[in-house]
Amino acid sequence: MTVLVTGATGTVGSNVIRQLKRLDPEIAIRALSRNREARLPEGVELAIGDLAEPESLDGAFDGVEAVHFINFAGDQYAPLENAAEVVALAERAGVKRATVLGGRADGELERALGAGSIETTLLHPVEFMSNTAMWWAGPVKAEGVIREPFGDRVSAMIHPADIGAVAAKVLTESGHGGEAYLLTGPEAVALPDKVRILGEAIGRELEFIELTVGEAESRWARQGMGEDMIAFLIEALGDTPEEGRTVVDTVERITGRPARTFADWAVENAELFT
Ligand SMILES: NC(=O)c1ccc[n+]([C@@H]2O[C@H](COP(=O)([O-])OP(=O)(O)OC[C@H]3O[C@@H](n4cnc5c(N)ncnc54)[C@H](OP(=O)(O)O)[C@@H]3O)[C@@H](O)[C@H]2O)c1
Repeated sequence: MTVLVTGATGTVGSNVIRQLKRLDPEIAIRALSRNREARLPEGVELAIGDLAEPESLDGAFDGVEAVHFINFAGDQYAPLENAAEVVALAERAGVKRATVLGGRADGELERALGAGSIETTLLHPVEFMSNTAMWWAGPVKAEGVIREPFGDRVSAMIHPADIGAVAAKVLTESGHGGEAYLLTGPEAVALPDKVRILGEAIGRELEFIELTVGEAESRWARQGMGEDMIAFLIEALGDTPEEGRTVVDTVERITGRPARTFADWAVENAELFT
């Protein structure tokens, strides 16, 4: 079978590809990217196209049985607006199954797939463990100190490989159509514990300093972050919804193996912090 992976060069898509290869090396994988120079794992076919321009997707769905979709377009994660056209192309090409990587809210892509003939499964991961690299690699390398607000925050964050592993199973077997899977890691980790676990993984004691909301806002503004982003972070970190801090067993149920821990992620990615 052939699987088309969109968002293939990103955090989740690259893990979907890795886990598809791991599940069955015989699966043919086509990766969609806007970038002609995209670097892909060996044996993965590159399809150049832009989801925001359906006419650029000519041929991308040919011979494809299953598609992993992102539901945004562009580097600012704007909702995909012409998704009905994209779904029509996929249906015309005979695509049977799809997964959709959920973002903040369902949009046109989810609606078009829901109204159509493709067996669709929504994947709703909570916070990615890999966000830690984006936020903490700099301060850890520079001074070994993490400064954040909301020191009592707890997160059931997920390893991106587990999102990929669930997607790989769902894309290659039937029985998941119509489901919306919430995906978490195996434990809800409190912020100070997260700092400690990362320190153990990289062999360095790290300090955690809790900022007030005002201190965090000023610090992020000094770092050049825009007002909208700051407001989003304060809301997301300060008021993590219950589903973001409650462990569910979806990863183990679908893949047959326990979800990877933050300690696993930290050990695998220790070099990013040293
Ligand atoms: N970070 C979190 O904690 C978290 C938690 C839950 C959900 N999410 C959701 O995860 C999603 C982000 O996934 P990610 O982190 O894997 O993304 P990412 O690493 O930022 O990568 C973005 C990918 O999207 C592709 N892309 C962007 N615009 C495109 C377009 N117009 N046409 C075709 N491809 C396009 C890019 O491909 P090219 O550049 O190669 O074209 C790239 O592969 C968002 O929806 C976010 O809401 C994130």
